[in-house]
Amino acid sequence: MSTFPATRLRRLRRTGALRELVAETHLDLADMVMPLFVSPEALPNEALPAMSRHTVDGLASAGVPAVLLFGIPEAKDDEGTGAWIDDGIVQQALRALRERFPELLLLTDVCLCEYTAHGHCGVLHGGEVDNDATLDLLARTSISHVEAGADAVCPSDMMDGRVGAIRHALDDAGYEQTPIVAYSAKYASAFYGPFREAADSAPSFGDRRGYQMNPANVREALRECELDLAEGADVIMVKPALPYLDVIRAVRERFQVPVAAYNVSGEYGMVRAAAARGWLDERQAALESLTAIKRAGADIVVTYWAKDLAAWL
Ligand code: PBG
Repeated sequence: MSTFPATRLRRLRRTGALRELVAETHLDLADMVMPLFVSPEALPNEALPAMSRHTVDGLASAGVPAVLLFGIPEAKDDEGTGAWIDDGIVQQALRALRERFPELLLLTDVCLCEYTAHGHCGVLHGGEVDNDATLDLLARTSISHVEAGADAVCPSDMMDGRVGAIRHALDDAGYEQTPIVAYSAKYASAFYGPFREAADSAPSFGDRRGYQMNPANVREALRECELDLAEGADVIMVKPALPYLDVIRAVRERFQVPVAAYNVSGEYGMVRAAAARGWLDERQAALESLTAIKRAGADIVVTYWAKDLAAWL
């Protein structure tokens, strides 16, 4: 192996064109998914613009190829009825977007936490989230999303067996072609803070550690992915992204399916807050973050910068 001075790694770093020529990772808008919040009333968010709430009429395509819809319902109850009713907020949004933007890929988050009065991701029995009683509600929610025009459903609740329950229900309803993008390795993370404010979905008591994963574990993440794939998941997701790049890498190396990563609200919020103080450049920090997530092995990135990226690239 030749060494210095024959070898000089700086040679390929001299110009932008050379750097681009040998870049190992590229950002492509086609791989990005933009989360969108829809609610009966608009609620602009100046500090975190991507987390603003839109009305059905105010929804735009954001110039991105794919969106992930979250709903804030008019009313909440113990069972999260607003998640699956035919005229629910996400169902209305799906019909409107399908008509307005026929090409736009419509993904929906399937979970009950935005719709339950207690803010947990499933129904409660004796103060605990009842896994098996929740499955049917998640399946109903998925079917109603697909009926309203969803191209894929993304269960984020972390109940055991939900992918299988949703797959069976979709197949029974004649939607055997609709993919499931499973939030397979979803951690009980402190980085969901801004989301819970935007979606009004913080649990009214306790936390989510009884169903979401312990941040300490990576072998368990592989088991989650394995089970979801066995139950019929088409895409597996790791969430959050930046504090879990090792998990993305491990999942990438183990499985031959598309891997998604969710660059969550807290990751976006940290950069926005630091940029507002002049501590870092938002665009550079965002591009570096997204490149790192792709380099770790993600094929698809859900990110609040997707819309900005459409302008930056
Ligand atoms: C719903 C859900 C959450 C997020 C995505 N789907 C919140 C949570 O689990 O508490 C977080 C997204 C983000 O922080 O950007 N369960």
